[in-house]
Amino acid sequence: MRKIKTGIPGLDEIFKGGINSGTSFLLTGPPGTGKTIFAIQFIHAGAMLGEAGLYITSEEEPTDIREIASSIGLGLEKFEKKGLVSIIRQSISDKKLVSIATPLRLIKENKIKRVALDSLTLFEYMHVAGEMDYRKEVLDFVIRMKETKVTLLTTSEKSIIDIDQFHYDPEDFLFDGLIILTKVRKSSTFERCLNVVKMRGQEHLIDIYPFSISKGSGIEVHTKQLPFSLIDKDAKEERFTK
Ligand SMILES: Nc1ncnc2c1ncn2[C@@H]1O[C@H](COP(=O)(O)OP(=O)(O)OP(=O)(O)O)[C@@H](O)[C@H]1O
Ligand SMILES: [Mg+2]
Repeated sequence: MRKIKTGIPGLDEIFKGGINSGTSFLLTGPPGTGKTIFAIQFIHAGAMLGEAGLYITSEEEPTDIREIASSIGLGLEKFEKKGLVSIIRQSISDKKLVSIATPLRLIKENKIKRVALDSLTLFEYMHVAGEMDYRKEVLDFVIRMKETKVTLLTTSEKSIIDIDQFHYDPEDFLFDGLIILTKVRKSSTFERCLNVVKMRGQEHLIDIYPFSISKGSGIEVHTKQLPFSLIDKDAKEERFTK
């Protein structure tokens, strides 16, 4: 199977060269952990390689996405002009089922290879009444995207309190891949950490890696570094149990 580059420095190493083309993966984590920036980098990296991308935003305006991208040194406008990047907003205020007619039309017209849906809350708002409906709707979306052969990245929110005590949500099971972004307290600050929980059908590293978000290069996963916050935590727990 062909592998595609995620565009996140360090992450393709974790995936031994990239992720299998045509798969779907969920990027989850608490607020402000870098999910939107990750999704922007994923779409931008595709455009750089000539692979057209579609960014579906539910909470932000397309102009916000362009601004976030330029704040980390990535210009999307020039790719939009060439048809290599399309940004659409699917509003959560529409109290009807999510219509995927527009994404499907764009995928066909622009020969789109990568889709980023930021975020899955879009579906949650539609289905407050019953969890079954919500799961079905999300699964339908994943299947429809898979039929078009695009590689799908979806973001979702998760309230992680402790890295050792994750609560898995129903949607975590619906995707081929699951990546968790979180922040771990380290003394009086926080360290950003990334972990690939699963990626069906391919080999990947399972360690927890520290990552950074910077103006110049966005998200970078530091595969050669250790998450010092967790080493400190383990050492403290060991002292406590002795
Ligand atoms: N230009 C930048 N340079 C450095 N760090 C930045 C920059 N822009 C954002 N950040 C950092 O990234 C964080 C936000 O990232 P992002 O918007 O991708 O988070 P998110 O996980 O999508 O959040 P939410 O769940 O609220 O949508 C900010 O809180 C900030 O710490
Ligand atoms: Mg976001």
